[in-house]
Amino acid sequence: MTDKQYILTGPDPDNTLQLPVLEPTVGPDVLDIAKLYASQGVFTYDPGFAATASCESTITYIDGEQGILLYRGYPIEQLAASSSFVEVAYLLLHGELPSAAELQDFDHTIRTHTMLNESLLRFFNGFHHNAHPMAMISGVVGSMSAFYHDTTDIHDPHDRDVFAHRIIAKIPTIAAAAYKHSLGQPFVYPRNQLSYCENLLHMFFSVPSEEFEVSSVAAEALDLLFILHADHEQNCSTSTVRLAGSSGTNPYSAIAAGISALWGPAHGGANEAVINMLERIGSASHIDEYVDRAKDRNDSFRLMGFGHRVYKSYDPRAQIIREMCHRVLEKLGQSNSPLFELALRLEEIALKDEYFVEKNLYPNVDFYSGIIYQALGIPKSMFTVMFAIARCVGWVTHWREMLADPETRIGRPRQLYVGPARREYTDLKQRS
Ligand code: ACO
Repeated sequence: MTDKQYILTGPDPDNTLQLPVLEPTVGPDVLDIAKLYASQGVFTYDPGFAATASCESTITYIDGEQGILLYRGYPIEQLAASSSFVEVAYLLLHGELPSAAELQDFDHTIRTHTMLNESLLRFFNGFHHNAHPMAMISGVVGSMSAFYHDTTDIHDPHDRDVFAHRIIAKIPTIAAAAYKHSLGQPFVYPRNQLSYCENLLHMFFSVPSEEFEVSSVAAEALDLLFILHADHEQNCSTSTVRLAGSSGTNPYSAIAAGISALWGPAHGGANEAVINMLERIGSASHIDEYVDRAKDRNDSFRLMGFGHRVYKSYDPRAQIIREMCHRVLEKLGQSNSPLFELALRLEEIALKDEYFVEKNLYPNVDFYSGIIYQALGIPKSMFTVMFAIARCVGWVTHWREMLADPETRIGRPRQLYVGPARREYTDLKQRS
């Protein structure tokens, strides 16, 4: 708390409220309005929570004006250049970079929690082969609450750790099972001598009848994408996990809620929508037409992968992924990817357009990620699943932070009611 104060005066000038100002480590001050209703009898109105801090957090910081993203204080560019996804997972969960021994121990723990209960695998048989994988993983992760209900005491820090390790380790196995089910191929069991992303690629692309060698280029590319997707403070899916978790529900159910929230095209589903959009645009000669449609208020079409609630400049993750596209496509012998060329041209045209400039609309993390996923042979319907695997680390970290915070109360927003005032029930016969 600082000495700064905001004084709020209502219709009665004698009834003022001093709003305490909370000072973050970095970023804008935050007004504490917790006593507003008790003192003044009014609520605040903030659709989409654009100006509302829902909690205190020590995990991730974003400066949307400057395009800065820090995990536990470390710039995303440095982590992308030097770290690994498993190390970033440790950093997010524990707040500090691990020592070599701590990293080895954590990596070993994650590697040895990868198998699923066989009964859980049988759940997939209930899904139609063309079910969207996000629907399958949301359902199966939610069902894990039935397997680990009695052994997950959310008030026990040890059980919270075990939950974190289990879900981070098992979600690639669940994702791969969803993929294999959609192909009608046998499930592939995890191989714990492989790294996190190698194992994922092994479970996705190997078949029991043939030898399979994991591509190191693909594993490295995936690892980098996962670092970039691991957390993003109070975004829609993370806030959903926090809100669901605040009731004390089983954490697997809370994660399933987060997966559902991520699926939407305005959030993580945008990576799939970007590729659909680029395929629909088809060639550079059609870009102007689609840019015009995106600007037309009467047309629901939006440039997918563009715009962000927080970033009003270039999303630093999009910048890293765009650079990465050049390198990865070249290594995979796909440097002439027409889709990447089209995306670059679309970005160039949009960033010169007054509408996009005025509204600070820049490519976000989803604009280029699908191009890499596609180059790695991952099907479009699995793009958002890849995002969910990485973001699971962020969801778990936020859930743990929330439960350890003595200030946590059940999340329960208020509303501006604009429906009918009280009226009397009329009998069916008397209604005209
Ligand atoms: N194309 C065209 N216009 C856009 C776009 C876009 N992609 N994004 C925002 N705008 C316009 C809006 O129409 C609005 O215009 P107005 O002020 O004239 O009404 C203005 O920019 C502000 O947009 P809002 O929708 O109010 O911004 P909000 O913060 O609520 O939404 C969002 C952010 C959902 C990301 C939005 O930019 C969007 O729909 N983008 C496309 C989907 C997408 O890429 N989502 C992924 C986001 S990153 C992530 O979640 C992982």
